[in-house]
Amino acid sequence: MIQTLEWTDSGVRFIDQTKLPSEETYVNCRTCEQVADAIRNMVVRGAPAIGVAAAMGIALGIKNAKAETVAEFKPEFDRCCELVRKTRPTAVNLFWAIRRMQEKFESLRIRPLTQVKKALIEEAQRMHAEDIAANQAMGRLGATLMPASGGVLTHCNAGALATCGYGTALGVIRAAVEEGKKIHVYADETRPFLQGARLTAWELMKDGIPTTVISDNMAGAVMKQGRIGAVVVGADRIAANGDVANKIGTYSVAVLAKEHDIPFYVAAPFSTIDLETPDGSKIPIEQRNPKEITHFAGKAITPEGVQVENPAFDVTPSKYVTAIVTERGIARAPYVESLAKLARADQNVAIEK
Ligand code: MRU
Repeated sequence: MIQTLEWTDSGVRFIDQTKLPSEETYVNCRTCEQVADAIRNMVVRGAPAIGVAAAMGIALGIKNAKAETVAEFKPEFDRCCELVRKTRPTAVNLFWAIRRMQEKFESLRIRPLTQVKKALIEEAQRMHAEDIAANQAMGRLGATLMPASGGVLTHCNAGALATCGYGTALGVIRAAVEEGKKIHVYADETRPFLQGARLTAWELMKDGIPTTVISDNMAGAVMKQGRIGAVVVGADRIAANGDVANKIGTYSVAVLAKEHDIPFYVAAPFSTIDLETPDGSKIPIEQRNPKEITHFAGKAITPEGVQVENPAFDVTPSKYVTAIVTERGIARAPYVESLAKLARADQNVAIEK
């Protein structure tokens, strides 16, 4: 399995996603600051991977602590949480992971610092294992929705590289292929950061899953030609009413899918569902550096000084979403009810050894 990120004795090791597919190199982060930079600079990206990276960054903060008591360490703990909190605003998994580390810290405050250190490092590692288990569980559920054969379109990278392993949308595809379904993936290239062309294509080719990269503006034509039986994408945040924030361009794909009567599925762990956000209009959308649009491989491709917009995500209204696949079950409209029901469902997913 691809090791997107891993806790090691010498720090947190990330596969450098800014360099793929031309170079498979790794970055070792030894401090909370370095992990925050890795998230901000997209060395690690994808909502679930960002969440676990944040938890591991906080764990590094406590591992490196010079303080002698938990009370003395608390300001440093808060600083680490703040540092990772400010990296990227849309993926709710980041805030979910920080809150989980904070709750663990609070529950252990009366214990000696050595015990708190150990427990927080273990908590971050547990989140890593749970993420893979959740992906495998949602893969098994989502595979039942995939066509027996033919094209499945995906946007961005919601694969092993966006998670701790196996993937969400690509996990569904992987599980379907493991069950014998003959799927051919159409991967939108995903301007401007090219997560589809660079990352989805790379990891699916590694697994021998037939893949064709198309430019984003080909999706409609490929659908019209009858080559797509289903769309499956990941999510950065799903509001209580089922509106889905995901990589910019997802909304266009969803509208096209509806026009062509193609089911549009979203696969995401429950940590991506934000029941505190009532609908998609309240989801903060990250604006990224205009250079991602104006430059290609370091070279300017637009006239100097032109105005540019670069929102990293868009929101797909729930009316376009056929179903949301989570590790706890499959939700369908009306999502206010089905997501609330999943929130009450069993939270435990068995971790496979
Ligand atoms: O900007 P990115 O690459 O972090 O955006 C990633 C996506 O939009 C993914 O589709 C989403 O995080 C789901 S990953 C399982």
